[in-house]
Amino acid sequence: MIKVDQLTKSFGKIKAVNGISFNINKGEIYGLLGPNGAGKSTTINMLSSLFKPDSGTIHLNNTDLFSETNSCKKIIGIVPQEISLYDELSAEENLFFFGKIYGIPTKKLKNKIHDLLEFIGLSGRKKDAIKTYSGGMKRRINIAAALLHEPKILFLDEPTVGVDPQSRNRIFEIVERLKSEGLTIIYTTHYMEEVERLCDRIAIIDEGKIVGQGTLEELKKMIGEKEIVELDFATSDKEKIEELKTILPFEAEITNNKLAIKCDKNKDLKEVLNLVSKLNLSIADIDFVAPNLERVFLHLTGKELRD
Ligand SMILES: Nc1ncnc2c1ncn2[C@@H]1O[C@H](COP(=O)(O)OP(=O)(O)OP(=O)(O)O)[C@@H](O)[C@H]1O
Ligand SMILES: [Mg+2]
Repeated sequence: MIKVDQLTKSFGKIKAVNGISFNINKGEIYGLLGPNGAGKSTTINMLSSLFKPDSGTIHLNNTDLFSETNSCKKIIGIVPQEISLYDELSAEENLFFFGKIYGIPTKKLKNKIHDLLEFIGLSGRKKDAIKTYSGGMKRRINIAAALLHEPKILFLDEPTVGVDPQSRNRIFEIVERLKSEGLTIIYTTHYMEEVERLCDRIAIIDEGKIVGQGTLEELKKMIGEKEIVELDFATSDKEKIEELKTILPFEAEITNNKLAIKCDKNKDLKEVLNLVSKLNLSIADIDFVAPNLERVFLHLTGKELRD
């Protein structure tokens, strides 16, 4: 349904997107997970024809986006990262306005607005001005606006940023229902819990590149099945921590004062602790972490995903 090949886009010296390729099947939710500035919005903006790439190709439903932009635009809905609604107008008026831009006939549009307001759970507030809405409610109206023309593909760019927990759950339910109706969805976020819950496949994106992609299981396999034992040291004695890493018979990674060791906590911990005391290192904290996307991200980029 979506085929992206070797996309690149620079802004001056910044390579915002640097050779991204992926294929998304009909009905899939594909997650773009990455930290601030990774290139998620730039990718979405190219896919929705707002930006032209410097190089690379985009096909939507087997159609070249840049040679047949108008027909492609009909099948895509965009929920941009920045909320774009008219504050003084009501929810209903906003949706009417956007529907008219798409050229939807009035009667059909009114029915559609009614259905969508029900769908996003905001029928009761439809007459209120957008300026009286919470961030999460505005976000839901933005989603409705993107669905007015019944697109086949939906781009959601960080739809839960600045959203209260209740609206967040509501947005998850909306996305899950849209999937069940057969929409193909790209979902960008820097929250790993969201892609873990919603996405069929995930691309981990950093500095304009996809550093890993696959299902959650496939990505977790990249760091192995084992639990991680994370030792936080009281000292920042980098040399000793390095030394410990080299003498440990297990795979390990260092970040700041922490050493993340891939081993069996029931079987191997004693051996680890023996080596720690041999080097006169003292432990400030110890944690056991099941493989998760945060770990995968760290493994692939050497950086923490969290801000
Ligand atoms: N219009 C622009 N002009 C100049 N630089 C830009 C522009 N848009 C994006 N960039 C730069 O391109 C890089 C990627 O930005 P992008 O907005 O795609 O990241 P992102 O992954 O969406 O980040 P965030 O999570 O903060 O939304 C950043 O370094 C950013 O500063
Ligand atoms: Mg962004």
